[in-house]
Amino acid sequence: MSEIITPTAPALLWAPDRTEMVRALWEGRPTPPLAYLRTYGCQQNVADSEHLAGMLAAMGYGFTDRPEEADLILFNTCAVREHAEERVFGNVGALKHLKRRRPELLIVLCGCMMQQSQVAERIRRSYPYVDLVFGTHAMGRFPELLYRALTGGERVFDLSEEGEAPEGLPVRREGKIKAWLSIMHGCDNFCSYCIVPYVRGREHSRTPEAILEEAGGLIAAGYRDITLLGQNVNSYGKGLAEPMNFAGLLRQVAALPGDFRLRFMTSHPKDCTEELIETIAGSDKICSHIHLPVQSGSDRILRKMNRHYTREDYLRLIDTARRKIPGVSFTSDIIVGFPTETREDFEATLSLIREVEYDALFSFIYSPRTGTPAARMEGQILEAEKSARLRELLDVQQAIGIRRYEALVGQTLRVLAEGYAKDSDRMLTGRSDANTIVNFPGDPSLIGRFLPVTVTRARNWAVEGVPAEENVPKL
Ligand code: SAH
Ligand code: SF4
Ligand code: F3S
Repeated sequence: MSEIITPTAPALLWAPDRTEMVRALWEGRPTPPLAYLRTYGCQQNVADSEHLAGMLAAMGYGFTDRPEEADLILFNTCAVREHAEERVFGNVGALKHLKRRRPELLIVLCGCMMQQSQVAERIRRSYPYVDLVFGTHAMGRFPELLYRALTGGERVFDLSEEGEAPEGLPVRREGKIKAWLSIMHGCDNFCSYCIVPYVRGREHSRTPEAILEEAGGLIAAGYRDITLLGQNVNSYGKGLAEPMNFAGLLRQVAALPGDFRLRFMTSHPKDCTEELIETIAGSDKICSHIHLPVQSGSDRILRKMNRHYTREDYLRLIDTARRKIPGVSFTSDIIVGFPTETREDFEATLSLIREVEYDALFSFIYSPRTGTPAARMEGQILEAEKSARLRELLDVQQAIGIRRYEALVGQTLRVLAEGYAKDSDRMLTGRSDANTIVNFPGDPSLIGRFLPVTVTRARNWAVEGVPAEENVPKL
C-alpha cells in the first residue's frame, strides 16, 4: 500500500493521506480493529486522549475497555511526579505477556513522560515490545507515525520538539454532559519543581474564534458543563494577533446562547486579575469556584518555587474574590516537603489553609524531577518527613472540608445531574456551581438537567440532599 489517498472530509486535513492509508489497512476485515486507551495525569491529558481517540476512530478503529482483546494499546502518560512514571513503567511491563501471546498487538506510548529523552531511551532499551513512542509535540503526526509502525517493520520514536497540536483534530469525547476544552497549550512559568514546561513546550493560545466555535458546537450537542483548560488560563492571549485576555475570552464564551455553565482550570495566582474576578461575579454562566493553587504558605518557599506572589498577595486575592463573588469557593494544590522546607515553613502552609478554608485540596509530596532547578537544590527533605507532613496536612484539611460541607446543610444549590451515584440505582449524583458533589434521590430523566437541591447532610467528599421546588441563583 503506497498509494496516497486524497482527503475527502475537511476534518481529515490534519493528516489527510496517512489517516486514509491506515483505514485502508483494515479493508476486508470483518470487524474493525479495537483500541484500548489509558490516560494518566491531568485534564489536559484527558482532553488530548479524546483527540487521539478521535483520530483512531477516523482511522477505522473501534474501542474496547479490555486490553486483552485490543489490537492497539495506547498509554497517554504523565511525568509530573515520580509515582506517576513508576505506575506507567509497571503497567507497560504488564503488557509483555499480551504481546508474547499476540505479536501483532501494537503498543503505543505517548504524552508528557515520553517527551523526556531519558525515558524514551529506557523504553528503547528495556521494553523492546513497545512499537511506537511519541511526545506531546507529535499529536498531529499520530496517523503518520501509526502508519509507519504498522507497515514499516520497525519501532518508531518521535521525540521531536517541533509541532503544535493542530486545529481541527477530530475528537471522541468520553462524556455527554461535561466537556474539556483546551484553550491553550504549554507553559512558560517554569515553577522550579515542575517538569510541565519542559515536556509541553512554550505557551501557545488558541484563537478566540476556534474556541468559540468549539464551545458553540459543544452547547449545540447538548453539553451542559464546559471546562476551559490551560496550565495557566489567566495568561491566555499572549502572542495572539488580536489582543484578548482570559476575562475577555470568558465573557465571549459565557455570552453564547444556551443552557450551560462554564468552568476553567488552572488559575495561576500571579495572573489572577480583578477584571477576572468581576467577570466571574457578573455572569450566571461562569461557576463561582476558583481552583487557585497556592503550593505553599511560606514566602521563602514560594520564592524558591519561582511562583511570583507572596502569601499576602494570595490572601488579598482570596479576600477580593470573597467580597465580589457571593458564595465563591476555592480549591488548591499544595506541595509538601519542597527542598529546605522547615517545620516553620510547613506551619505557614497549615495556617494559610486554615485561613482560606478550601473546599478541597490536592496535596502532593514533593517529587524531584530530572532537569528542573529544584531537583538540584540542597536541602532535600527525607521521604519519611515528607509523608508525615502530608498526613498532618490531610488531617487539617479534612476537618475544614467537613465544616465547609456542614455549613451547606439547609442551603439550596443549583446542581447539574450527571448520572447515577456510585453503587446506586436510586440516587443521582451531580455537582453544584461551586463544584461540590451532591447526591440526591431522583429520576434518571433528570440526568443532564440543572435542578435545585436542598442539602440535608454532609459527608466526607460530598453532600446529600433532596430536590427542591424553587429556582436558585448560582452558588
Ligand atoms: N499548571 C497547573 C498544574 C500543574 S501540575 C498549576 O500551575 O497549578 C498539578 C500540580 O502538581 C501542581 O499544582 C503541583 O502542586 C503538583 N506538582 C507539580 N510538580 C510537582 C513535583 N515535582 N512534585 C510534587 N508535586 C508537583
Ligand atoms: Fe508547572 Fe508552574 Fe506551569 Fe503549573 S504554572 S504547569 S506548576 S510550571
Ligand atoms: Fe502530567 Fe503532563 Fe498534565 S506531566 S500533569 S499530564 S501536563
